Amino acid sequence: MAKTKSPHPLPYVGEITKYLEEGAPKAIRKAIETAGKDDMLDPGYPYRVEMGKRDYQDHMEALQIELVKMMHDIALTGKRLVVVFEGRDAAGKGGTIERVRENLNPRSAYIVALPKPTDRESRQWYFQRYVDWLPANGEIALFDRSWYNRGVVERVFGFSTDKQRGHFFDQLPNFEEMLVDDGTILVKLWLNVGRAEQLKRFLDREKDPLKQWKLSSIDVDGLAKWDDYTDAIRDTLTRSDTKLAPWTVIRSDDKKRARIAAIQTILNAVDYAGKDADAIGRIDDRIAGGPEMIE
Ligand code: ADP
Ligand code: AMP
Ligand code: MLT
Repeated sequence: MAKTKSPHPLPYVGEITKYLEEGAPKAIRKAIETAGKDDMLDPGYPYRVEMGKRDYQDHMEALQIELVKMMHDIALTGKRLVVVFEGRDAAGKGGTIERVRENLNPRSAYIVALPKPTDRESRQWYFQRYVDWLPANGEIALFDRSWYNRGVVERVFGFSTDKQRGHFFDQLPNFEEMLVDDGTILVKLWLNVGRAEQLKRFLDREKDPLKQWKLSSIDVDGLAKWDDYTDAIRDTLTRSDTKLAPWTVIRSDDKKRARIAAIQTILNAVDYAGKDADAIGRIDDRIAGGPEMIE
């Protein structure tokens, strides 16, 4: 398949290459050149190379069988499950969600990927539009981004005021505790991607006509805001890592290891009939942990 040329380039194509050539810090440019040569992961990552394909496929199949059992149990016993997928742009949220969902019943396991708030939504209680999409008994809601926009992208881009954000953080623990108290299982996953890997993924998006649609102005303008994001992410995770609704941070430079750790975390959070601990396996603590994993 021709991957390099699209007859109809989408907006923002070319902007990433321009940033690489003109704006990116030297160390990041160098990391990308090196990675391009030997396909190594970033030196800061706990593994040198990606997980082997065969091991990944075998484990993923076993995990998906567990997810099917879990879904069946949720339907039968009337549980509710919310999984929040968060992370920087290109952290791998979409791909991970797809692996969770691909063998589940789309009627009961659905993705929630809301656009920016409409004018009317921006005049409502901030959590209101998310509440609309919470699961009923027997359902699984997979949030591709969430109310955490208020703490991160909205702060970095100034889409809301400090006062609105302060109010959000005041209400947040109560909001999540009410969900949990009412029986909803809440899993919060933060996919953590490194700066060089993020840029590499954006460059791949730019070249691939199947992925160009994913590029947005936020991606492009966010490139120069890496450190602002880091501050906002640290602040947000620290303020929202509560006993009833803790975060799991997953290093996602290796998408395969990240997807496996994400699904393991979900399965561990739910009690379901026929759970096979060997099939789930132990979570790699070099890949997944608490908010202290954010560098
Ligand atoms: P994604 O990475 O989810 O494909 P974008 O990178 O375009 O989407 O945007 C990141 C997030 O920022 C999205 O959740 C989007 O809704 C949000 N966002 C974009 N513009 C605004 C805005 N003006 N006000 C509030 N949120 C916004
Ligand atoms: P706060 O979230 O209020 O703790 O903000 C901490 C810091 O984040 C501020 O001092 C700013 O540097 C930055 N910041 C907060 N709000 C915004 C905003 N709306 N736009 C850009 N930067 C912001
Ligand atoms: C993201 O994390 O920005 C996306 O969901 C894209 C992806 O699937 O990698």
